Amino acid sequence: GSGSVKTLQIVNKNINLDGFSRSAVLAGGTFPGTPILANKGDRMSINVVDSLTDPTVLRSTSIHWHGVFQDGTSWADGTAFVTQCPIAANDSFLYDFTPTGQVTFWYHSHLSTQYCDGLRGPLIIYDPNDPQKHLYDIDDASTIISLADWFHVPALNAPIPFLYTTNTINGKGRFAGGPASPLSVISVIPGLRYRFRLISMSCEPNFIFSIDGHTMTVIEADGVLTQPLVVDSIQIYAGQRYSFVLTANQKISNYWVRSVPNFGDNSFTGGVNSAILRYISAPNTDPTTKNTASTKPLLETNLHPLVPVAVPGLPHPGGADVLINLNIGLDLTTVRYTLNGVSFIPPSAPALLQILSGTQLAQSLLPSGSYYSLPPNKVIEVSIPGGTDPAAPHPFHLHGHNFFVVKSAGSDQFNFKNPVVRDVINTGRDAYPSHSRFVTDNAGPWFLHCHIDFHLDIGLAVVFAEDVKTVSKEVTPSAWKNLCPRYNGLKPNQL
Ligand code: C2O
Repeated sequence: GSGSVKTLQIVNKNINLDGFSRSAVLAGGTFPGTPILANKGDRMSINVVDSLTDPTVLRSTSIHWHGVFQDGTSWADGTAFVTQCPIAANDSFLYDFTPTGQVTFWYHSHLSTQYCDGLRGPLIIYDPNDPQKHLYDIDDASTIISLADWFHVPALNAPIPFLYTTNTINGKGRFAGGPASPLSVISVIPGLRYRFRLISMSCEPNFIFSIDGHTMTVIEADGVLTQPLVVDSIQIYAGQRYSFVLTANQKISNYWVRSVPNFGDNSFTGGVNSAILRYISAPNTDPTTKNTASTKPLLETNLHPLVPVAVPGLPHPGGADVLINLNIGLDLTTVRYTLNGVSFIPPSAPALLQILSGTQLAQSLLPSGSYYSLPPNKVIEVSIPGGTDPAAPHPFHLHGHNFFVVKSAGSDQFNFKNPVVRDVINTGRDAYPSHSRFVTDNAGPWFLHCHIDFHLDIGLAVVFAEDVKTVSKEVTPSAWKNLCPRYNGLKPNQL
């Protein structure tokens, strides 16, 4: 791959997605942000330049490349207060990494709830030698469908964010009771077969996604190619991605694309929660298609990797080297979420900096109680019982790895043969834990957190301190110098 440096400028701009104008934080000046497209094996050198000026929406930033493992480059993971200090206004940070796979990633701010104010965009890696080619023919793989909730006030100031929400598809939407502003149009040519990439950039709700009159053949989940599975609706949680094949084999017309949130206004009145699938030469009007009940919803337990991979560990519950159970709690007096009783409060010196300064024991890392020390080359099994609070279910995202989901939320079956492998798991609403495994083959301080951004902001996170001895060796002196300019020159004990 090429080593040329790309610039991603983060700017403030007033934008109007749904008839209401507001100041936003934008990557490259658009919402969603500039799509970052690359080929498999390409090295990505992205200089993020913070040109933010509006104090009502935070002027510092950081960018996380969601789904990229950052194998050997944990310093480039972009998580404020875990792998780096926030990038200050008028400053920049060079991210330099090489992702693997032919997949659907995305990127977003990983500072407070800043991505809810706009800083979120697609990151797609194409593979000229698609290993699924033998399974189907695709005429076009360029369509990206980004789902995102959008607020009329800055996220930090929104006491009950969903009251102000418009759910957008590719940056357009209609506010319930608001003006009939333009909707996104996804154009297709009759007879052609499309690979659509569906990305949930949601801050809060999950969505049930469907396209009237069409089935969808799912072929990828969170960056892992899957055996083709035909469905007519997809429930997608914050941070998750799917690729599906759609064949434009219906009559030339307009069809509603629907994305139903799990709370807030879930109607379709006047084009709320919708976009339009338009066959080329159909009239430029809203569709008149009707919503029919889903008979083939996507069930995660029916999703299996295309290329079989052995589940690490022994084929029985608990058959791993290290077992970690995380109980979700909500402390109503502090209004903070907890995991095993501890709420994650960002430390002033990021975890990585603490590690590089010589702190190697999880119990010595700050904030205390939020770190789990993981030895190298072991099988880890994480179980998370479902949340019982009204804002459950909580989708949990692991950085640096993906999970073998040996037991999905809502299922009573373990699968040690061919479970879905993904980086955001739904943890459900009932007491039965989801169980997921991974192997500690990637040194780093890795966040594991609820991807509902408002929940992360009030502490629903832990950090896995994985193989910290190796982490210290991976960070080059120049990377170390840039992580936190304000600590340069300080001795470790002065952090
Ligand atoms: Cu998509 Cu920790 O994030």
